[in-house]
Amino acid sequence: MKFFLDTAKIDEIRQAHAWGLIDGVTTNPTLIARAGGDFVETIHQICEIVQGPVSAETVSEDAEGMLREGRLLARVSPHVVVKLPLTLPGLQACSALSAEGVRTNVTLCFTANQALLAAKAGATYVSPFLGRLDDISTDGLQLIRDIVAIYRNYPALQTQVLAASVRHPMHMHQVALAGAHVATLPMSVLKSLVSHPLTDKGVAAFLADWKTVPNNDICAQVEAFLAKRAQA
Ligand code: G3P
Repeated sequence: MKFFLDTAKIDEIRQAHAWGLIDGVTTNPTLIARAGGDFVETIHQICEIVQGPVSAETVSEDAEGMLREGRLLARVSPHVVVKLPLTLPGLQACSALSAEGVRTNVTLCFTANQALLAAKAGATYVSPFLGRLDDISTDGLQLIRDIVAIYRNYPALQTQVLAASVRHPMHMHQVALAGAHVATLPMSVLKSLVSHPLTDKGVAAFLADWKTVPNNDICAQVEAFLAKRAQA
């Protein structure tokens, strides 16, 4: 399963990349506005850091405008994935860009039928928005399960399910169980995945016990051992 970070904040991306935990990044116009930097410079910088798929969203409302923006964005870096809305113009632009070999992420997906259309249009990824469905008392997880099942029925459909609008650790657990190919997570959710009080308690206990071990400098011990072995 791939993990993408859902942010346009460079410091967060550098941190998550240094942890070795992210395969790519998704952005959207809201995240770009919140991060506050120049759009194209930000996308280029993110691509340089992650060296993996980076979704950059078009903002035109017609297919021609989306295509023009998408073609240009794809020239910023080979890592750019052009993000398009799940509208008829968005699907038209997706079909054309896919035929040109440009990777696409069709976003704002809220039904299985929409996901089928994205796959028919050759999308690389489709982004069902889990949390936003939950917000309106609709089962977002069931949508992810349905799309995964439908795509599995038709192996010729190569689109990957990118679970988006992931709001908390249980969402992550559930989309992994459902078989989503990718989940895109805000930094807060990524950090929350690691936390467990028994892990913290266990680390503290091991470290306290280690202090009672005589000669407990591991590096010094290993270096001495290696030097002795080299002389033998
Ligand atoms: O990836 C899409 C995501 O940014 C939407 O999340 O929390 O605004 O619904 P949210």
